Amino acid sequence: MSRIIAIDQGTSSSRTILYDAALTPLASAQLPITQSYPQGGWVEQDPEATLASVLETMRRVLRESATDPARIAGIGLTNQRETVVVWDARTGRSLHPAIVWQDRRTAADCAALDDAVRELVRARTGLVADPYFSATKLRWLLDHVPGLRAGAQRGEVLFGTMDSYLLWHLSGGRIHATDATNASRTMLYDIHKGRWSRTLCSLFDIPEAMLPQVRDSAADYGVTDAGLFGAAIPLRGVAGDQQAAALGQNCRVPGAIKATYGTGCFALLNTGAQPIRSTHRLLTTIACQLDGQVSYALEGSIFVAGAGVQWLRDGLGILDQVPRSQLLAEAADPAQRLVLVPAFVGLGAPWWDAECRGAVFGLTRGSGPAEFARAMLESIGFQTRDLLDAMIADLPETLRPGALRVDGGMAASDWTMQFLADILEMPVQRPGDTETTARGAAWLAGRQAGICPETVEAAQDRTFAPALDPEQGARLRRTWRAAVDAARAVPV
Ligand code: G3P
Repeated sequence: MSRIIAIDQGTSSSRTILYDAALTPLASAQLPITQSYPQGGWVEQDPEATLASVLETMRRVLRESATDPARIAGIGLTNQRETVVVWDARTGRSLHPAIVWQDRRTAADCAALDDAVRELVRARTGLVADPYFSATKLRWLLDHVPGLRAGAQRGEVLFGTMDSYLLWHLSGGRIHATDATNASRTMLYDIHKGRWSRTLCSLFDIPEAMLPQVRDSAADYGVTDAGLFGAAIPLRGVAGDQQAAALGQNCRVPGAIKATYGTGCFALLNTGAQPIRSTHRLLTTIACQLDGQVSYALEGSIFVAGAGVQWLRDGLGILDQVPRSQLLAEAADPAQRLVLVPAFVGLGAPWWDAECRGAVFGLTRGSGPAEFARAMLESIGFQTRDLLDAMIADLPETLRPGALRVDGGMAASDWTMQFLADILEMPVQRPGDTETTARGAAWLAGRQAGICPETVEAAQDRTFAPALDPEQGARLRRTWRAAVDAARAVPV
């Protein structure tokens, strides 16, 4: 019983990684997830296809590593957060495509909320009232899918973020649960009292009967249905992917911060047992709940990071593979200054501007793929700097970070990480194993199974030291800020 499985169900892919108790990855499998964009600002996924991809990656890993499922001490599940799924409590069939966290269809509903409601949301959930979170998406479904509300009131329709939906299916329909980190992203969960907020549920008109039970991040979540993998494997850990990455980076002490560069970028700074209320439009969220003890984080969320490079590949067709963006960026003409604000789905922290759309400034006749690639990679650094500035302004001296730990697919790009260190004016530390999200989920399951130590420090690969002339950095940041202001000022 010395093996652990992590399932990482992300926005762009599902992957399963097999670990030993020292959290050394032994085998992995990954499958892409298809998104659909039925209208401008809408982003959906097929829950059944997502489930199928999870089951398939799990089976591939077991098969290709020749692992007896009976030797798995536990599964840790981590997931894209906020994405909303509703399904039939008897059949498990989803009743609408999943509405993905990036989806902006409820922007007008959020804009219509009055100040008193915004303040209530802020005080109870630590979040900024924004379509990013689950509550208004779920309400949209209840209002638009015929019969959904009545079914939910009768307990025949269940709601969950992706973790709950997967858990329900993995456990053969026996477990309808989530963990505190995922619950904290719904805009319905009181992060101080540790329970669903009755007031917010009634305000957003959400029947409480459809909500999952909230548990610790390392807890007993039942076992997999024996028919799925040939043995009943214990489900022992659940956490939102960003919180799992923070655990995988061992950001468990107050002041430790990580940024994960996946589809979006999410920076989480651990503030310990103390929730810090941001005055700079960051989020207060649950970092982890272990043994009933909550630790909190301050979070900055950027909606487009890797998704921007995917757009260069799939939308513009100027790249054949995402990793080649670095080579293109290196070839960009230093004399040209293209600035790209990738507000494809609005802007997240610290702007929270759901209506803003992307913009490019500085185009010349000579602007080409290389300049676009560089501008896209640079935008990731600029956006992170905006987050860091907001965080530092919110934090007491004792919690101010001295370095940023990075992970996720884009952390592999040396060029992007060096630019990040330059523009942050702060060292950027990259671990050897950048799959920290899966690592964190595996640690939760291993801890619950009693086979992982309390702390598992990730080995570092490289530290990027800031090397840019401070005046040049300030100039670049001023141009970026002007570009953001201009993008926000132009209604399209
Ligand atoms: O909040 C959204 C986040 O959980 C998505 O993460 O890695 O799928 O971009 P990722």
